[in-house]
Amino acid sequence: MDKGVDKILLVAGARPNFMKIAPILRRLTSMPSAPRSKLSWKLVHTGQHYDYEMSQAFFEDLEIGRPDYFLEVGSASHAVQTAKIMVAFEEVCLKESPDAVVVVGDVNSTVACALVAKKMGIRVAHVEAGLRSRDLTMPEEINRMVTDTLSDWLFVTERSGIQNLKAEGRPEAAMHFVGNVMIDNLYYQLAHLGAGGAGEEKLSGPYAVLTLHRPSNVDAEEKFREIMGAILKIAARLPVYFPVHPRTRQQIEAIGFERRLDSGRVHLLPALPYKPFLRLFKDAELVLTDSGGLQEETTALGIPCLTLRENTERPVTIEEGTNRLAGTGREGILSAFEEFISDKSKKGRIPELWDGKAAERIVSILLGKPG
Ligand code: UD1
Repeated sequence: MDKGVDKILLVAGARPNFMKIAPILRRLTSMPSAPRSKLSWKLVHTGQHYDYEMSQAFFEDLEIGRPDYFLEVGSASHAVQTAKIMVAFEEVCLKESPDAVVVVGDVNSTVACALVAKKMGIRVAHVEAGLRSRDLTMPEEINRMVTDTLSDWLFVTERSGIQNLKAEGRPEAAMHFVGNVMIDNLYYQLAHLGAGGAGEEKLSGPYAVLTLHRPSNVDAEEKFREIMGAILKIAARLPVYFPVHPRTRQQIEAIGFERRLDSGRVHLLPALPYKPFLRLFKDAELVLTDSGGLQEETTALGIPCLTLRENTERPVTIEEGTNRLAGTGREGILSAFEEFISDKSKKGRIPELWDGKAAERIVSILLGKPG
């Protein structure tokens, strides 16, 4: 059995990290007092995301307390952003001398902090280990591979992750199939959702929800226009609500597309905090997305999802869940939409261990108890 830890640094940097770190923090603070008194933890926010809608609003919504450290790294090229996180995080590690660093997901903050910790002889726990798209043009795939190579605990969300890690020769003793903290958070938030706030009127009639932010879909004007062309066709049959990520907003403004979308029944919304977004997508007829987490959340809720990518690192959402890979070409997206229309019954089932208890298992293992 692994030697348990006493002092942990938890790292969050970008929007999808906040949802994954929240259940772990919740578990730590609600633990029975005996194991809790042996353990201390601090939260580090790297500041990779910094807009109110992308960061602070999530802290409020997810009930995460103020971070103990805010590194304010902001946006930059990958090399500059990763390097700035590393420099700032090394100082935190020197000051705190933790015996473990917990990183989640696959963003630049994940890999940067894992690399710093490991080089300082601090053990690394990676939550959401083992996912692979096999697409090295995705920055997240590089981040996932490097982080998993460095990690002492590999906390895995679906069985494909274990197979991938074994194929890469990672030690089996480090692998723990624990379920999915993203889904822990989803169930918790659903139970505490309450009514909408001001400006959140309940939508009547069927609708779809779209999210789009991958550089490969958004940054090149031609690709973005192609995807949006398909979305406009779909919107003629099912209105589309589209909370817009800052990266995507830049492209929409650059090509002057705002009016065209709005007049074509694609309703542009600002980037939303977690709860308003959940209120929106939980009642959607269909979700179209290039996000990772949303593929999982729609599967957990039985909502049909069309993934606007050529591959997914989350195959269980297709094999068992409600997800379909639509690709990023106009014809592929439209034919996946037709399939959805003719077979709305693809309800899928909830994958193994997506039961809301992943954080509990993770904390037990970190404390040195069997999972
Ligand atoms: C990052 C993650 C991605 C994750 C996504 C969720 C990496 C490599 N990518 O991508 O995996 O799915 O977050 O949102 O870590 N910007 C703002 N305000 C912000 C943050 C960003 O305006 O608070 C703008 C910046 O101008 C920046 C652009 O959005 O150029 C992209 O931000 P960045 O953090 O570099 O990557 P994301 O595309 O958000």
